[in-house]
This record gives sequence, C-alpha cells and structure tokens, in this order.
Amino acid sequence: MAEVLVLEKVSRRFGGVQALQGVSLSVGSGEVLGLIGPNGAGKTTLVNVVTGVRSASAGRVLFEGRNITRLQPFQTARIGLARTFQIVQPFPDLTVLDNVAAAALFSQRGTRLSEAREFAAEQLEFVGLGQFAAKSAHTLTLAMRKRLELAKAVAMKPKLLFLDEVNAGLNASEVDHAMVLIRQIAKRGITIVLIEHLMKVVLTVCSRIVVLQNGALIADGTPQDIVNDRRVVEAYLGKKYAQLSAARG
Ligand SMILES: Nc1ncnc2c1ncn2[C@@H]1O[C@H](COP(=O)(O)OP(=O)(O)OP(=O)(O)O)[C@@H](O)[C@H]1O
Ligand SMILES: [Mg+2]
Repeated sequence: MAEVLVLEKVSRRFGGVQALQGVSLSVGSGEVLGLIGPNGAGKTTLVNVVTGVRSASAGRVLFEGRNITRLQPFQTARIGLARTFQIVQPFPDLTVLDNVAAAALFSQRGTRLSEAREFAAEQLEFVGLGQFAAKSAHTLTLAMRKRLELAKAVAMKPKLLFLDEVNAGLNASEVDHAMVLIRQIAKRGITIVLIEHLMKVVLTVCSRIVVLQNGALIADGTPQDIVNDRRVVEAYLGKKYAQLSAARG
C-alpha cells in the first residue's frame, strides 16, 4: 500500500503544553485509520498541523511524497486534504447549499459558482440533507450540522479526509447513519483518518488504529492489537475493553 501521508517526528508546543511530541506516523492510500486517545491528547492538534491551520514546532509532514510542512490551509485543501471541525461552525446566514458550495470553491481553483452549487447539491443528497438546501445553516440541528460538515468535506474532493469527532453528540441511529456514510466515503477511495471516542465506531470501520497520549504516539496496530495493548487499556480504554478482549481470547 502506497503511503499518502507521512509525519516525521512532528512536535507542536502551546506555551507550556507539549501538544504533540515527536509523532511519527504513516497513512496508507485507501486506509481508514482510527486516531484515538484521551481528551487533550493532541488529536485535533495533529489535524491542525497537517492541514496547515497550525504550524509544527519541529518535524516534517509529507503528502504524496511532497513536503507540506509549511503550507497554508488553502494550499493543503487544493492538493487534496480536507477535514471536518470538531466544533461545527457553518456560515450561519448562508444557505446550507452555499455552505457546501463555499467549501468546493475553497479547494478547487477556477470553479464557477454555478458548478460549485451543482456539485454541492449532490453532496447534500449524499448526506441526506437535500431537502434543507435552501434553509439558512443556523436553522439546522446539531446532528444536521454534523452531516453538513461531512458534505462540506467531501465537496472539497479530498484524497485524504480527517473526520474529527463527527459522531459526538449524536444519538444511536444518527451514529449508525454516519457510519454508513463514512464507509461510502472510504469506498470512493478516499483515505480517512477518523478521530472518534466511540469505540464501537472505531472498531467497526477502522482497519488500523493509532493511539495518542499526552502528545505522544503510544500504540499503532490492528483493532485487535489495540484492545489488547496494556498501555492503551490503562491510558484510555479502561477495564471494559481488557475484559472484552480477554473474553474474545
Ligand atoms: N490554540 C491552543 N492554545 C493553547 N493550547 C492549546 C491550543 N490547542 C490545543 N491546545 C492544548 O494542546 C493539548 C492538545 O489539545 P487537542 O485539542 O489537540 O486534544 P484532543 O486530543 O483533540 O482532545 P479532545 O479529545 O478533547 O478533542 C491540550 O492540552 C490543549 O489544551
Ligand atoms: Mg479534539
């Protein structure tokens, strides 16, 4: 499997907080990689650094073999990186359709507004928000705004997509629907890095999982490896998963 994304000893400090400490990681083309870890572990910071929202204090980020460490967000968007935001923040007074069209325009240079809107409408249908296209974004419920984030992300035509807690705050059936969408996005050949606290989701959709704790990568393996990793169980998963994996043998 070709590597699309490589992090080489990436660090990021915020004042006295070492949010990322020498993280080395590679993501293969077409992979659905789970990125898990306790609150404050550095997961969102990793996404911010890769996509250019924050700069790395040290280390390098390579995308398709190209050094992208110093690129700005609009530049990483144009070469095929997209992400959803943990705190959803649509343009509240724009229509749902135009929020998605704006994402398409951000990532695709030279696209006409009419084209962007047409493409946006397809993405809204895909996530099940078609009937809300003409509504102002501020009228959407949280679950709908999470889906809008997904529509915006796929409208950027990414090669690699970071999903940052797209299921947080959703009920069980909404989570099931989101899982279906995530799988369909993966089927299109888009590489996915899924940040998620719901282990049911991570274990179901990810082929490999990496674990961050205090900014450092403490584990990298198959879902089976991860639920059996003593350090991960102690740092994050807790006894529930130790027992679950013991029962599975
Ligand atoms: N802009 C910032 N300024 C100062 N500190 C920050 C900033 N962004 C993140 N941090 C700190 O960096 C650390 C990592 O934060 P980050 O948001 O990456 O964690 P996370 O793993 O995404 O957590 P969560 O699961 O709660 O979303 C935390 O200690 C956080 O307080
Ligand atoms: Mg986060």
